[in-house]
Amino acid sequence: MFSAKMPDGFLWGGAVAAHQLEGAWNEDGKGMSIADVMTVGSATQPREITDGVIPGKNYPNHSAIDFYHHYQEDIKLMAEMGFKAFRTSIAWTRIFPNGDDEKPNEAGLKFYDDLFDTCHHYGIEPVITLSHFEIPFHLVKKYNGFTNRKLIDYFVRFATVCFKRYRNKVKYWMTFNEIDNQSAYNEDFLMATNSGIILDGMSDKEKEAAMYQAAHYELVASALAVKIGHKINPDFQIGCMINYSPVRPLTPSSDDMLLADKFEQRRDWFSDVHVFGEYPQEVEAYIERKGYRPDISDEDRIVLKEGTVDYVAFSYYQTTTVSAQNVKPDKLNDLAQAIAVNPTLVRSDWGWEIDPTGLRIALNHLTDRYHKPLFIVENGLGAYDKVEKDGSIHDDYRIDYLRKHISEMEKAVAMDGVDLMGYLPWGPIDLVSAGTGQMDKRYGFIYVDKNDAGQGTLKRSRKDSFYWYKKVIKTNGLDLN
Ligand code: BG6
Repeated sequence: MFSAKMPDGFLWGGAVAAHQLEGAWNEDGKGMSIADVMTVGSATQPREITDGVIPGKNYPNHSAIDFYHHYQEDIKLMAEMGFKAFRTSIAWTRIFPNGDDEKPNEAGLKFYDDLFDTCHHYGIEPVITLSHFEIPFHLVKKYNGFTNRKLIDYFVRFATVCFKRYRNKVKYWMTFNEIDNQSAYNEDFLMATNSGIILDGMSDKEKEAAMYQAAHYELVASALAVKIGHKINPDFQIGCMINYSPVRPLTPSSDDMLLADKFEQRRDWFSDVHVFGEYPQEVEAYIERKGYRPDISDEDRIVLKEGTVDYVAFSYYQTTTVSAQNVKPDKLNDLAQAIAVNPTLVRSDWGWEIDPTGLRIALNHLTDRYHKPLFIVENGLGAYDKVEKDGSIHDDYRIDYLRKHISEMEKAVAMDGVDLMGYLPWGPIDLVSAGTGQMDKRYGFIYVDKNDAGQGTLKRSRKDSFYWYKKVIKTNGLDLN
C-alpha cells in the first residue's frame, strides 16, 4: 500500500465537538443548547428534538463521556498517541448561557483556559470550532435561530469574546461546523442542529427559503468574525468547515452528469462564499428563480468580501452518487431524492458508503477550486466494538478503514501536490453520535465504557487502533502497517 512521510509540522491528531463528549450540560452556569433537547435514537430510529427537557426521556449529551471532568486523563491519552493537534468546539452555552446575554460566563471561559493549557502542556495545538451543532436553545425558541438577523450580533459577540480570551492559546479556528450540512431543506434535523431553525408547520418551499436566509446570516456572521479575529491576532488562521462529499453520476448519461453538477452547485456553494466572498451564479439564479429573495444587503456583500477565510477545513466520510431516474436535473430541489446506491461500494453498519479514493478526489477538487491550504478535520468509521474477556478490543476494521483513507490522503499530498495542514479523524475517543445519539456507534482509538442506555463505568481503555495510530504519527505517516 502506498505511503509517504507528510511534511514537517503536519498536524496529526483527532477531532471532537463539545456537546458530544463534555456532558456536565448544566454545570457551572452552562445554559441549554439544541443538543441538550435531543433524545437517543438508533441506526433506524431518528433522534427526537423535544420542546425543552422532558423528564423520563434519555438525552445522551447531558452526561456524554463526562470529558468535562475527565479531560486531563483524556488529553494525556491523546498525548500518548503523539497527537500534535486536538480539534474541539467551545460550547456556546458555557460562555453565553442564553446566547443573547450581555456578559459572558466566567466559569465557562475558565474551563476552556484549563483545557487549552492542558493541551499545550503536552505540545498539542488546539484547533477550535466556534459553533458545532450546539446553538443556545433560547436563541432557537426566541428568534427561530439564524432566520433572524439578530443572530449575527450574538454569534459575533461570542466569537469576539473567545478570540480575545484565547488569543495566545489558540491559533487555528473555524467558524461554523459543516455549514453546508443543511442544504437539503427536508433535512429538518440538520437545519435545527445547524442553524437552530424549527420548521414545524412550514411548507417545503418555506423551509428551503428559511435555509437560504439562515445560511446567509451565518455566512455574514462568519465573515465578520474572520475580520475581527484577524484584528485581534494577525497570526490567527481562521477557516471554514464543510462536509465535503464528491458527487458522481450513477451512469455516463448526460442527464446523470448534469444532475451531478447541479447537485454539487446546490450543495457546495457555501465554501465559495467563504473563500471568494461572493455567491456563485447558480445559487443566485436559483434563489431568484424560486422567488426566495432572502435579505442580502449591499453591506453584507462587502462584509463577505472582506472576511474570507485562510484555509478550507472539511469532513470526509463518503462520496455521493446521483441518478436522474429519481429526479430530473431541472426539478432538483430536494437533494435527498437524487441520491442512488453506488453498486461498487460497501457500506458501514449505518449505511455510510466506504470510499477511500473519494478522499483523494475531494482533496484534488478542493485544491483545484480554492487554491487554499486544506485541513481534514473529520474522517472515520462508526462501528460496533467488542470488548474481549481480557478487556482488549481488536478493531482491525477501523484500522483498515483509516489505513486506506490515509494512504489516499498521502497520495494527494505526495503525488498530486495538495497543500494539507493536517489530519484529524473524528472521535479519537468514543463519544455520542451526532446523528443517532448513540454511544455504540464508536469511532475511537480510546474505548469508553458506556452504552446507548447510558450505563457504564466511563472507564477509558486503549483499542488496537490506539497503538496503530501512535505508530502512524511517530513515523509521520510512513508506516501504515
Ligand atoms: C459530522 C459531524 O457530520 O459527522 C460530527 O460534524 C458527527 O458532529 C460526525 O459526529 C459523525 O456523524 P455521526 O452521526 O456518526 O456522529
